[in-house]
Amino acid sequence: MAARKVLIVGASGGVGGALLKQLLSTSNPPSIRVSTRSLGKATFPSTVEVVQGDLEDPSSYPRLLKGIDRVFMYANSQAPLQQLLSAAKDGGVQYIVLLSSMTVEFAPESSIGKKHLTIEDAVKESGIAYTFLRPRNSASNSRLFWAPIVEKTAKLWITFPNSHTAPVSEHDIVSETVVFISIQFPSRETASSRSNRYLQLYL
Ligand SMILES: NC(=O)c1ccc[n+]([C@@H]2O[C@H](COP(=O)([O-])OP(=O)(O)OC[C@H]3O[C@@H](n4cnc5c(N)ncnc54)[C@H](OP(=O)(O)O)[C@@H]3O)[C@@H](O)[C@H]2O)c1
Repeated sequence: MAARKVLIVGASGGVGGALLKQLLSTSNPPSIRVSTRSLGKATFPSTVEVVQGDLEDPSSYPRLLKGIDRVFMYANSQAPLQQLLSAAKDGGVQYIVLLSSMTVEFAPESSIGKKHLTIEDAVKESGIAYTFLRPRNSASNSRLFWAPIVEKTAKLWITFPNSHTAPVSEHDIVSETVVFISIQFPSRETASSRSNRYLQLYL
């Protein structure tokens, strides 16, 4: 069976970090490379390979992608997507998990929706097998966005206070990804027979 080598772009972030942690806690973790734009800014376990990389900087693509067959990445609308995905394909990447957003379904015309849809479409067109994670509200919003507002104003300002949503934690966003990004495909199966789908993460 082929070796599995997974690239996690954004392992210093909330969702990428949760994926790294969960992958490393499995009984048979794949070989893992993580990337960060600034080496030394974040610390990573000694068992993973760390490289400097930036989705917006094509000169870093060989360093990111060499020898990789599966990728987890964020949706970055500034990245030269055709170049990135060609480099991934040429480098042997067979499967991409893209952190997208539920906005592509409920507000595709919004700037956030358009941004994520553009990247989803580019991944689809690349011919590489994919799974799109489409969470709605991240649980970390309450810490990152709400806590400072409450601290400053002693009030919580919410645009649609009567709407009902269930924020999803980063750990739940990636829990299934852990399985399909690290599974050893039986020799007759390809990544695409298990993927090319959307994972909706909302209530
Ligand atoms: N917040 C929500 O409610 C919500 C809902 C649906 C979807 N989402 C999606 O989730 C994303 C945020 O996820 P998160 O909370 O995990 O973010 P986060 O904690 O801010 O992490 C972002 C990660 O991206 C990496 N990064 C940033 N720019 C990069 C670049 N140019 N090249 C390579 N890596 C780069 C950073 O790594 P370094 O700094 O180490 O380079 C960092 O690890 C949103 O952008 C959206 O797409 C969010």
